[in-house]
Amino acid sequence: MLSLFAGAFLASQAFAINNGLARTPQMGWNNWNSLGCDVSQDLLLDTSRILLDSGLRDVGYQYVVLDDCWSDGRGKDGYIRSDLKKFPNGMKWVAKQLHDMGFLYGMYSSAGEMTCARYEGSLDHEDQDAETWASWDVDYLKYDNCYHRGRFGYPEISFNRYNKMAKALNSTGRPILYSLCSWGEDYVHTWGMSIANSWRVSGDIYDHFNRPDTLCSCDDPRDPHCVAPGAHCSVMNIINRVAPFVDRGQYGGWNDLDMLEVGQGGMTDEEYKAHFSMWAALKSPLLIGADLRKLSSTTLTILNNPAIIAVNQDPIGRSALRIFRDQEVKKDRYGQGEIQIWSGPLWPHDQLVVFLNAADEDLEMTTNLNDIFVHLGPEGSAPQTKLEFDIYDLWADRMEDFKAEQILQGNNQYKKDWYNSTETPYKVGLQQGDVRLLGKRVGSIGPQHDALRAKVPRHGVRMFRLRNLNEPAARYSSTKDEL
Ligand SMILES: *[C@@H]1O[C@H](CO)[C@@H](O)[C@H](O)[C@H]1NC(C)=O
Ligand SMILES: *[C@@H]1O[C@H](CO)[C@@H](O)[C@H](O)[C@H]1NC(C)=O
Repeated sequence: MLSLFAGAFLASQAFAINNGLARTPQMGWNNWNSLGCDVSQDLLLDTSRILLDSGLRDVGYQYVVLDDCWSDGRGKDGYIRSDLKKFPNGMKWVAKQLHDMGFLYGMYSSAGEMTCARYEGSLDHEDQDAETWASWDVDYLKYDNCYHRGRFGYPEISFNRYNKMAKALNSTGRPILYSLCSWGEDYVHTWGMSIANSWRVSGDIYDHFNRPDTLCSCDDPRDPHCVAPGAHCSVMNIINRVAPFVDRGQYGGWNDLDMLEVGQGGMTDEEYKAHFSMWAALKSPLLIGADLRKLSSTTLTILNNPAIIAVNQDPIGRSALRIFRDQEVKKDRYGQGEIQIWSGPLWPHDQLVVFLNAADEDLEMTTNLNDIFVHLGPEGSAPQTKLEFDIYDLWADRMEDFKAEQILQGNNQYKKDWYNSTETPYKVGLQQGDVRLLGKRVGSIGPQHDALRAKVPRHGVRMFRLRNLNEPAARYSSTKDEL
């Protein structure tokens, strides 16, 4: 069956970078989308406190990642210095505070002579900088692509530039998650997994669902000549760009669809749910980008849905694939509009189905077992089409707003309801059939009753887990170690 096959296949490829990290996509927070250069030690500590108190750390958001603008030149010895006005106690002290709260600490640089905001870059200083970060007890590096002195344009050139840092990080002896940010350039999805834990697939995201923007070039993902990925890329633009190579994500290395915009204010609630769901289904790292000091209860109830996060952190680690796309639907004033269906395996032998409605109206969408399993055998020949599945709606048990509001106000009464992945990792929760990871059973599907049908709101998703009734999870327990 697919899950066993996928497990065996991946076992042989696993940990190409071999630092033991990112066995599932990394989760955390990064300041860039909401705060840009406005960084300080207080920001990191305040944010960590909120992640902890709101329960977000314990649904999985573990990395607190500092983006650009933290440094203050290099000393005569060539070593990079942190800005003591923004970080008066120094970076090692910050790392200690974060570690004491149960977080991991992320740091930023660029594989160029300068960072994007024109601070010191690490090009040709790789060993010194890696050594510095390791000495500060840093656990993560986001490595950007600005001011690279023309060292790009062909995969091998970019590979060599980024591989220098991979080697430098490795030789520190400290496991440091390596997150490439080369904007999808030079076919990074064909080589990123051999040196890094994740690689960006596009220009920078912006806070819109599908609005095209001239700053986001490369609108046609099949255009091999596009070398300027740009910025202001919408959620739908990024999904369509990564669609042809979503399968490149695997244990230890993931397609990075960029940091989340959830909670930033530019999209509707349905659009943010769709954004978050698709990032989860496509096994992207989940880095919250909002300013958590202004976290709203509604935003919290998207980011803390354990049934969606369990899809992202699934032990099989395979992205959903696009099994259906229709562009002949109602378009908006920008000429945008389409619907898509995505599906993929979930541990132990469940199946994910996502209806994505990017048309300019609410629609009913439908699929069946033949279409869902078509890649395992055409026209209903896949064995799965003969099975019975329970259907679980993964958004049905979204936390009520008033509970989230209580949590944000420090009322601990609701803490007992939270899924705690620090205590019970997602794989264990799934093994135990924890209802918080399954959502709500809404029906079943099998050879006798053949359609999965749902109303999908405009710019929204419906996300379902199909649970195989014929093969209890226990049957697969002997394979759990290799997964
Ligand atoms: C460095 O690379 C080697 C060989 O791939 C690997 O065994 C080791 O775990 C790596 N160490 C770190 C700290 O990443
Ligand atoms: C989750 O579990 C850990 C480990 O037992 C505990 O320290 C933490 O307080 C728990 N988190 C919540 C939100 O209850």
